[in-house]
Amino acid sequence: MSLSISKNQGEEAIQLLSKLKLLNRKLSPRTIDDQLHVPLSRTPQLEEQRLLESVLGKQSLKQEKFHFRAQIIGSLEEVVARQLPSSVIPLVSKSFDVIGDIAILELSPEAEPFERNIAEALMKVHKNVKTVYSKAGPITDNQRLRPLHHVLGSNRTETIHRELGCRFKIDVAKAFFSPRQSTEHRKVAEQVRPGECVVDMFAGVGPFSVLIAKRLKDVRIHAIDANPEAAKLIGENAKLNKVQDRITVWSGDARVVIRENLAGIASRVIMNHPSQAREFLEHACEAFGSDGGIVHYYTFAEGIDSELEARKELTGVLDNSRWRVKEVKATRKVRGVAPMKWQIAIDAELAPA
Ligand SMILES: C[S@@+](CC[C@H](N)C(=O)[O-])C[C@H]1O[C@@H](n2cnc3c(N)ncnc32)[C@H](O)[C@@H]1O
Repeated sequence: MSLSISKNQGEEAIQLLSKLKLLNRKLSPRTIDDQLHVPLSRTPQLEEQRLLESVLGKQSLKQEKFHFRAQIIGSLEEVVARQLPSSVIPLVSKSFDVIGDIAILELSPEAEPFERNIAEALMKVHKNVKTVYSKAGPITDNQRLRPLHHVLGSNRTETIHRELGCRFKIDVAKAFFSPRQSTEHRKVAEQVRPGECVVDMFAGVGPFSVLIAKRLKDVRIHAIDANPEAAKLIGENAKLNKVQDRITVWSGDARVVIRENLAGIASRVIMNHPSQAREFLEHACEAFGSDGGIVHYYTFAEGIDSELEARKELTGVLDNSRWRVKEVKATRKVRGVAPMKWQIAIDAELAPA
């Protein structure tokens, strides 16, 4: 089975298929005229077919047998296996992100001496990668920026990244972006209904805001970020995706922006800043009208009861405030951040106490 899409959707399609473990890595995709035909490893399930359709638009899953050539390069693990000690190979597979045509490696100290070999292997396997950086230290500041060290390819930090049918200009050195949050961006965007007013408190380069605006014409979004570089990129990304009429960009501290400009207007607030959301929750509530609204609250929690712990945190933060949790609509693990520790998302309806 194969997936046929227009060539300019190729990068995005391959990323999504790879994430769903649907990509047949033993065979090479083929381009015929303007179409890219991508070999699949199995038939997508109904849910996966729906997702592919919603992200890639009208695309065709074909039963017919295309003649695909065998993939000569192989997976990243196979390529590095030819060049590195076997003890290093297990450290490589999940140790990088690809943002547009830039790859960012996160290597354990044992793998660091091999970073150039790993970067070369990565560029061989991921033909779209033109630049490789490695993470050169922990995230220390509030803007969630991490120092980067250039390893291979052209030394530039700007790129265009495709996610869920949107295009994002990203500067990996100047503003936060993680491709690991794309499912979360989609899950939140799918909940927004026409006529809503959304405040995206920690908007980054705008992945929630732009996707929501792209899905709905009748929506008003206020995207806030304290990092002026991020705020500038939200504006550019709104234009790139032709949704600038629906998004107002605010550069500044979300608490101040809400108090001074957005009090009482929102039906929904997105709080995607897990390390700090608890300190901002009461300020987020100021954006709601008198009936309250929906909050997408993010935090970190550990252990087997991590989701319960996260819900307790949300309820606890509102104790003795003018607001209460009326209903928790959903709780989910967004991604693991350490052994037995997760970023947790809670969708909850808040109302006056
Ligand atoms: C974890 S990132 C989330 C980015 C974005 N929501 C996404 O999904 O890519 C948190 C963002 O919050 C911003 N930030 C930190 N403190 C802030 C504040 N007080 N007010 C507004 N934005 C803030 C940072 O600059 C950063 O871009």
